[in-house]
Amino acid sequence: MFRNFVPASILGLAVFFSGVSSAYALEYADIVLESTRDSMEKAGVKAVVFPHWFHRIRFKCKVCHENIFIMKKGANNISMRRIMEGEACGVCHNGQIAWEALYCERCHTADFQPMASTAGAK
Ligand code: HEC
Ligand code: HEC
Ligand code: HEC
Repeated sequence: MFRNFVPASILGLAVFFSGVSSAYALEYADIVLESTRDSMEKAGVKAVVFPHWFHRIRFKCKVCHENIFIMKKGANNISMRRIMEGEACGVCHNGQIAWEALYCERCHTADFQPMASTAGAK
């Protein structure tokens, strides 16, 4: 009885976890931050990539959520001024927990998303 029961429950768990991991894969994907696109374009830097998974394997969710960032893409009003003052990414990217935000090209790495609504308007 027990021997028959075990494989069935392992199968059940496998199905359960594969469902969870695919849902999480979406949450952990790299996030492109470009709500300040106009200013970034003027300054000649690319859009920012936040590698969520890279950070997630180093820190628990609650290190960042929701004290530093609320869990909503584009909702945190991140600016270089705030980063340099030790807020947002600058809580860690301050030369102590992680490298300082002086190396622009480490964060500003993505091409801007195409903007369908204004394409061809220039
Ligand atoms: C090092 C900090 C950090 C850690 C740790 C972290 N996150 Fe995030 N998370 C962020 C940032 C930054 C954003 C993007 C916020 C923005 O766009 O303003 C974000 C966004 C999100 C979003 C919104 C995504 C969207 O498309 O709207 C969810 C959901 C999320 N995180 C879940 C989690 C979960 C669950 C964990 C732990 C398993 C976690 N995060 C760990 C920094 C972190
Ligand atoms: C809770 C602390 C914490 C916060 C908040 C944080 N980071 Fe990081 N970040 C780290 C650490 C630690 C590293 C690894 C540093 C190292 O390898 O020396 C890192 C590395 C990175 C890397 C390099 C990844 C790689 O593949 O080497 C990028 C890009 C990055 N962070 C962007 C950001 C951005 C953008 C934000 C804000 C939206 C942010 N980080 C917020 C701690 C943080
Ligand atoms: C730790 C990651 C990180 C580094 C390093 C970094 N930035 Fe940023 N930067 C960001 C994030 C995050 C935003 C906000 C993006 C958004 O949400 O639109 C931003 C926004 C900006 C903006 C537009 C908004 C504003 O505050 O003016 C400019 C311009 C900018 N960065 C220039 C730079 C320059 C120049 C450097 C190098 C001296 C640099 N950044 C280094 C993460 C970084």
